[in-house]
Amino acid sequence: MTKLWGGRFAGGPAEALEMLNASITFDMRLAPYDLLASRAHARVLHRAGLLDDAELDKMLTALTELGEAVASGGFEVSIADEDVHTALERGLVERLGPLGGKLRAGRSRNDQIATDLRLYCRDHARGLAADLIDLIDALVAQAGAHVDAPVPGMTHLQHAQPVTFGHQLLAHVQPLLRDLERLRDWDRRAAVSPLGSGALAGSSLPLDPAAVAAELGFDSCAANSMDGVADRDFAAELLFVAATVGIHLSRLGEEVVLWSSSEFGWIELDDAYATGSSIMPQKKNPDIAELARGKSGRLVGNLTALLVTLKSLPLTYNKDLQEDKEPVFDSLDNLALLLPAVTGMIRTMKVNTDVMADSAPRGFSLATEIADWLVRRGVPFRDAHEVTGAVVAHCGKLGIELDEISDSDLAGISEHLTPQVREVLSVEGALAGRTTPGSTGPTAVRSQLAVVGTALAEW
Ligand code: ARG
Repeated sequence: MTKLWGGRFAGGPAEALEMLNASITFDMRLAPYDLLASRAHARVLHRAGLLDDAELDKMLTALTELGEAVASGGFEVSIADEDVHTALERGLVERLGPLGGKLRAGRSRNDQIATDLRLYCRDHARGLAADLIDLIDALVAQAGAHVDAPVPGMTHLQHAQPVTFGHQLLAHVQPLLRDLERLRDWDRRAAVSPLGSGALAGSSLPLDPAAVAAELGFDSCAANSMDGVADRDFAAELLFVAATVGIHLSRLGEEVVLWSSSEFGWIELDDAYATGSSIMPQKKNPDIAELARGKSGRLVGNLTALLVTLKSLPLTYNKDLQEDKEPVFDSLDNLALLLPAVTGMIRTMKVNTDVMADSAPRGFSLATEIADWLVRRGVPFRDAHEVTGAVVAHCGKLGIELDEISDSDLAGISEHLTPQVREVLSVEGALAGRTTPGSTGPTAVRSQLAVVGTALAEW
């Protein structure tokens, strides 16, 4: 097996070096992208007069065959191949003889790997966007079915004010829509082709990096060949988006864990999306939701690992950069596993609207309604807050809910508390009154749903 760099070396590499140095153990998944870039490079060599018509033809045919062999598992690689570029050049030489060695003219593994990884990232980011859209769609469907279902809205995990379940589900949709936006912004910056940067200094051969860029679906070619091979911002930024998606899924997952507990009882997970216990026959566990929480750790870890690898790295290519790939693969692989599971779990969960409605007014969650009612009657909010606090304390002492307090007790607390206050002591009334844009009232939530639907239709 020949290294791409064997010429000046007297003997072969030590086994320990070979084992450490190899990326072939994890980078063969870049082969389809490497082959695409090779096709574009072959055409550019042809236009530069460095391959004749027949040579280009043979080269493209061999690249196609090699791609088929890789896809079918018929192309075997070993640790001696070092990396995907070395392996594929071997495959080409095996098919073409010395002609296979012509493709390396004017390019280096440094611009090749930067190109391959960008192509991989852009391709898989599209898959990530599609998976996000599916999850948003599932959340939107549940939100649409529960536009006016009341639940206790919480702060500090304590009953705060009633909200609609539709509103709460859409509160998980908004961050995911922002993640989609992030992917779109990211792709614009990632659409730059490093091919043509060579090892670091560009090429003395009459190549055409702009044409190669266009052929590979990039918007432009690198403005600076040193940056072309050294830049991994695109990978770090994608890992940031992946970590942010992970954080959002972890927050949704945590809520699903709570909602499905006996203490909440808001939802029941479908059997197909829950697991059992090996010892406790009654158990139905929210493993998907817990993995949504748990996997956020490795997603943040992958981002951190790459950023630390890049920190203080001198220009241009350094072998440290070989460490860029596994975090990227791991984050994208894990989201590709996680998102469809979370989507199925959300789409199929059964919502116990009676339990939620029963719980919505508990914990004095309508207290703000009393304060607002007093404000509408000219009482300064500061005093209204004080008076309402006294009502809550009184009910707490008697162990009753707000609407169970007697007229005389109300009047005893404040002359402003006439029996008319009871008209705001209903969850439906509290929700219906919240009509401003972005509020939780059913009318405002229907408008929100319409806007989300339009945003989704654009994707
Ligand atoms: N396997 C290498 C990587 O993943 C490819 C680039 C190697 N370049 C070099 N000059 N050794 O980064």
